[in-house]
Amino acid sequence: MMVNMEVLFTQKEIESAVVRLAADITRDYKGKNPLVMGILKGSFIFLADLVRRLDFPVELDFVTLSSYKEKTTSGGEISMDRRFTTDLKGRHVLVVEDIVDTGLTLHFLLDHLREEQAASVRLCALLDKPSRRQMPVQIDYLGFTVPDRFIVGYGLDCAQKYRNLPDICCLDETV
Ligand code: XMP
Ligand code: MG
Repeated sequence: MMVNMEVLFTQKEIESAVVRLAADITRDYKGKNPLVMGILKGSFIFLADLVRRLDFPVELDFVTLSSYKEKTTSGGEISMDRRFTTDLKGRHVLVVEDIVDTGLTLHFLLDHLREEQAASVRLCALLDKPSRRQMPVQIDYLGFTVPDRFIVGYGLDCAQKYRNLPDICCLDETV
C-alpha cells in the first residue's frame, strides 16, 4: 500500500491559529470560570496547546464519544464511552473538538450538555469540513476550514496512527 502525506497546515500556521483562538476565548470567558470540555482522543494536542494560552485559571473535563454512523442506515448513533464528571448546572461550558465533519457527533453532545442545564455551551473546533455536514452545528471558534479529504496529525488519526505528527496533513492511501 502506498501512503501519500501532504502538509495542509504547518506547525507555525497552527500556532498562529491557536494564539488567535486563545485570545478570542480569553476575551469572552475571563472571569466566567468556564469548564473546558475536551473530546478524546482527537482533541488532546490542540487542547493542550490552547489551554496553555488561555489567560485565566482553566477547569477541565473530558468526554469520549464514538459513532457508529458507518454501520447504520439511520445514521448518527453516537455513544458516550467516557462521561464527564463535573456538574454542569449553571456552568459556562466550552467544548473543544478536533474536527466537525458530518456534525452528528457534536450535534449529539451539544444537545446533551444543554440538557444538563449548563448556563451556556459553545464550541471551539480546530477544523471544519463543511462539505460533509448532515446536521447543523454552530462553531463559535474555528481554526481552519478543510477540504473533503482525510486529515491526520496534530491529534487526528488514521486507525489510531499519526496522531503525533506535528503538522496537519492530508492522507491519501492507494493500494
Ligand atoms: P462527525 O462526522 O460526527 O465526526 O462530525 C466527527 C468525528 O469524526 C472524526 N473525523 C476525522 N478524524 N480525520 C480524522 O482523523 C478526519 O478527516 C476526520 N473526519 C472526521 C473525528 O474523530 C471527529 O471527532
Ligand atoms: Mg474525534
